[in-house]
Amino acid sequence: MFRLAVLTVSTSGFQGQREDTSGQAIKEILGPPDYEVTRYEVVPDDREMIAERMSQWADAPDVDLIVSTGGTGLGPQDITPEACLSVIDREVPGLAETMRARTLQFTPMAMLSRAVAGIRGNTLIITLPGSPKAVRECLEVVTPVLGHALQLLHTETVSDHPV
Ligand code: MTE
Repeated sequence: MFRLAVLTVSTSGFQGQREDTSGQAIKEILGPPDYEVTRYEVVPDDREMIAERMSQWADAPDVDLIVSTGGTGLGPQDITPEACLSVIDREVPGLAETMRARTLQFTPMAMLSRAVAGIRGNTLIITLPGSPKAVRECLEVVTPVLGHALQLLHTETVSDHPV
């Protein structure tokens, strides 16, 4: 079972003015038996707070995967991708590229998410757009490869390469 941390980035959610349905959607999709939620928090669109929480969680022993939602768009407050990039060691561009490409079939607005993904230590961090609909669409794309990705992060050598 992989340990999942869910980070919702929303200033209005942080202020208690909006229910966090996107974070909830992540928890529903990435649930037992494959995932166990070990951390959950709502933070405002604040670069320092997002980066601090992501790095703190990635460095903690009980987190294998961090999935954030929100703050990936073009608004002046949208800063999640920059916060994520500031804490990762290596980017995993294929995850974000494929989420955008494959979900264009649902909405051309998929082009407007600047979502990124990367690795800090042996923790994978994936940023998602901020609506529950986008969360569902994007997670459906990457979920099939997450198990192998997380396994790779915890092994020195992997002999099995699934097709
Ligand atoms: N991606 C998918 N798959 N489905 C969506 O509905 N919404 C888009 C986009 N990505 C969407 C999506 C919209 S409307 C915006 S503004 C951007 O994500 C950024 O959203 P965010 O700022 O909430 O992260």
